[in-house]
Amino acid sequence: MTPNIKPLVAGNWKMNGFRNSLSELGAMTAGYDIAMRNRIDMLLCVPATLIFAAAQEALGTRVHVGGQDCHFNQVGAHTGDISAEMIADSGGTAVIVGHSERRTDHGETNAIVKSKAEAGLRGDLLTIVCIGETEAQRKAGETLDVLKDQLDGSMPDDSTAAKVVVAYEPVWAIGTGLVPSAADVEEAHGFMRNNLTDRFGDKGAKMRLLYGGSVKPGNAEELMGIANVDGALVGGASLKAEDFLGICAAYEKLC
Ligand code: PGA
Repeated sequence: MTPNIKPLVAGNWKMNGFRNSLSELGAMTAGYDIAMRNRIDMLLCVPATLIFAAAQEALGTRVHVGGQDCHFNQVGAHTGDISAEMIADSGGTAVIVGHSERRTDHGETNAIVKSKAEAGLRGDLLTIVCIGETEAQRKAGETLDVLKDQLDGSMPDDSTAAKVVVAYEPVWAIGTGLVPSAADVEEAHGFMRNNLTDRFGDKGAKMRLLYGGSVKPGNAEELMGIANVDGALVGGASLKAEDFLGICAAYEKLC
C-alpha cells in the first residue's frame, strides 16, 4: 500500500463471459455495496460484447465497468477493433492496454501500447497500462531492464495519477498459480515508483501501481501489504463474485 492512495481492484474477464454471466456482476455489485466501506475502487473489465449490458447492470452502484483493449484511432476502417470513445459510449469508464496477452497474441509493441494509452486518455477513460517480464527474462536477470523499457515506451507523456494506472504483471505468474516472492514484488514496484516519479513528479508519486498474476482471496492480503502495491489486476478470480469480493474484502481490511 501507499499512504493516501485509494486502492483499485480491477477484474479482467478476458475472453470469458456471456450475457448470463452478468448475474456474477450483479452479485459483485450487491456484495460490494453491502459489505464494503468504499475504501477501494472496484472495476470489472469485460469483453466488448458485454460492456453496454454490464454498465447497465452496474448503473447506480459503486462498481465501474471497462474494456480490455482499444484501437488508437477514434473511428475508421479497422475491422474488428473498438475505440476508447466506443467504450465510453457503451457506458465503460476504463480500459486496459498492453496486457501481455495482447503484446504476445497481437504483436503489440511499446509504441502501439503508448498510442492506445493516449487514446484511453483522449476518451476520458481510466487507463490501465500493463507491463511485466517473461520467465526467460526473469531468469536472465533482466526484469528491471524490461520494466524500464516498457514504462519508458508505453506511458503517455501526459499521464496523470487520476487517469493512469500501471499494472505489473509478470507474464509467468498469469494464470499459473505462481506468484513472485514478496521481496521481488517490492523490488519491482519500488523500481516502478522511482521511474514514474522521476518522469512525472508528484503525478508519478501518486499513481496507482497494481500487482497482477494469480491474485486470489488467499494471497490478496499479503500482496496488498507490500510497499507501493496499490491494488490488483485479477484474471481468473474475477469471474466469480465470491472470489472477487474475497479479494476486495482483504484489501478493504487493510485500508
Ligand atoms: P490471473 O490473470 O489472475 O488469472 O493470473 C491476471 C491477468 O492476466 O490480468
